[in-house]
Amino acid sequence: MGEQNLITIKDLQVNLMSPYGVVHAVRNINFDIAPGEIHALVGESGCGKSMTAKAILRLHDEKKMLYGGHIFFDGKDLLALKVREIRELRGSEIAMIFQDPVTALNPLLRVGEQIGEMLIRRGTPRAEARRRVLGLLEDVGIQPPEERYRQYPFEMSGGMLQRVMIAMALSHKPKLLIADEPTTALDMTVQAQILDLLLKLQKKNGMAILIITHNFGVVAEICRRVSVMYAGIIVESGDVREIFHHPKHPYTRDLIFSIPQPRAAHRKLVTIPGMPPDLREKIAGCPYAPRCAEAAARCRELAPEMREAGDSHSFSCHNEIREQ
Ligand SMILES: Nc1ncnc2c1ncn2[C@@H]1O[C@H](COP(=O)(O)OP(=O)(O)OP(=O)(O)O)[C@@H](O)[C@H]1O
Ligand SMILES: [Mg+2]
Repeated sequence: MGEQNLITIKDLQVNLMSPYGVVHAVRNINFDIAPGEIHALVGESGCGKSMTAKAILRLHDEKKMLYGGHIFFDGKDLLALKVREIRELRGSEIAMIFQDPVTALNPLLRVGEQIGEMLIRRGTPRAEARRRVLGLLEDVGIQPPEERYRQYPFEMSGGMLQRVMIAMALSHKPKLLIADEPTTALDMTVQAQILDLLLKLQKKNGMAILIITHNFGVVAEICRRVSVMYAGIIVESGDVREIFHHPKHPYTRDLIFSIPQPRAAHRKLVTIPGMPPDLREKIAGCPYAPRCAEAAARCRELAPEMREAGDSHSFSCHNEIREQ
């Protein structure tokens, strides 16, 4: 199975030197993504999702960062590459889009020129770059392309700007697109349009997508597999439908029950009491134990191993979770 994966993350650790101590933001996580797969990384704020994403592209300031483990992509360990080599890969084989497109774009440059800049910088002739950009604008549903090409970012709505970011990310036909909270800053209807667009483009280009979100609704909408993160570790991973209907880890279950679902409007929403642990500290047992309604003494003392719950489903909890 290993060789078929586009990316394999093995025992990844991300440690950040902060003025307040070392933050162990990502603690030995493992997951993989097959070519063309849409994989979600989900979990509440601060659990290490963006740290994981940024580690893949080595976007951190490496003077303040200590990585451990491996990120194998297409046979190479990204954590072992030279800065020049990883720079080469960014935007071409692996591209990334962020939550807030406004800050990622240059306000003084026309959007068409911004999309074309990377193409030109990597050797595409100007006229050819322009033609490609118009095609990309069309692909991401920006109409009419010629007119939009000449606009500045402030002339576009948030949803439109996210489409521009997606066009930019797709310009080199990446094998993996990392989308870090791509719809969080958008209203509900535009969110749905952007998710539809990602799905359409994934089908057309066959690229894999790692989508990062704290919203399980987004996950259920477009992903095939999901990894649920809590306090720097993955607590559950596998097929989205399976996990959505039969979550095994109490955190996953609480997360699913904490989102509003129109078809279950009568059901009371769960709020998860307490706070995630301080990531500067060593965590002895299961990191969710202090907030978990089912935690027993051993949960606070011994970290549970990942175990299988089916063909494509694993979780790390000492208890056998009751079905919901
Ligand atoms: N510059 C920093 N200094 C100190 N701690 C940091 C810094 N950046 C991130 N962290 C900590 O690292 C942990 C992981 O952060 P990360 O950004 O990966 O969270 P996240 O899961 O993406 O959350 P969100 O959903 O809010 O984006 C958090 O607990 C955060 O407080
Ligand atoms: Mg984040």
